[in-house]
Amino acid sequence: MSARILDGKAIAARIRAGLAERVATLSFRPGLRVVRVGEDPASGVYVRNKDKAATAAGFDSATIHLPAETTEADLLATIARLNADPAVDGILVQLPLPAHIRTEAAIAAVDPAKDVDGFHPLNAGRLAAGQPGLVPCTPRGVMHILAESGVALRGARAVVLGRSQIVGRPMAQLLLGADCTVTIAHSRTRDLAAECRRAEILVAAVGRPEMVRGDWIAPGAVVVDVGINRLPDGKLVGDVAFAEAAAVAGAITPVPGGVGPMTIACLLENTLDAAIARRGAA
Ligand code: GUN
Repeated sequence: MSARILDGKAIAARIRAGLAERVATLSFRPGLRVVRVGEDPASGVYVRNKDKAATAAGFDSATIHLPAETTEADLLATIARLNADPAVDGILVQLPLPAHIRTEAAIAAVDPAKDVDGFHPLNAGRLAAGQPGLVPCTPRGVMHILAESGVALRGARAVVLGRSQIVGRPMAQLLLGADCTVTIAHSRTRDLAAECRRAEILVAAVGRPEMVRGDWIAPGAVVVDVGINRLPDGKLVGDVAFAEAAAVAGAITPVPGGVGPMTIACLLENTLDAAIARRGAA
């Protein structure tokens, strides 16, 4: 193996420690509310981890767990109550929602000033327009990892594999904002391997276990693996075949311990940003 390992877990721990220090200087505790509907088991783990991390950093954090049969109207009423609550700075509606609730309706109901997921169309539009706003947590975390990796972004050829609203699209916007030359590749791209091989920075966010092989990677490239996929034997793997890729890349994030821990750290960053924007730094 030749690639440098980009230790997201360590970077996330530093960010969280820095946030805890800043929160301790405030005259209020930034308020985060995570709304979970139903019993999706993976969501249960994520929501618990978010709550634990927020509380450890000094945030006022709580999870609102609604039953699976909650109607869309009831969920929107819960969101409206949180929008109106002055103690709440950040609202996150955990996805996926049960099939009878429209995800877009829930996302659009969140006050854009409290939208710590950065999924509201107003925040997505601000990002696309190059204006300040709340940015989705995972892409924000990837930008931190790239900053820490020392890779020069200006003029670099970046390929984002995946075009989701949560990762691919905002990731491409952030890289563009950092003066990369950005390609978004996806399941309909004609020769995915060839597109990836052109990348000096490759961000894989497709949710397909080990799809990116070693021969898709240019020697020395920086590879950021956003995927978290559980194999039938219970093993967690990314979207990148790690051992093959690490033999070619210059630097690579592992799974687990790469991008995953950054997402929660950036949720806390977004919540503190939202709190300070709403209340001032008093
Ligand atoms: N489910 C999986 N990832 C996410 C995320 O980043 N935010 C929310 N709200 N739900 C998710």
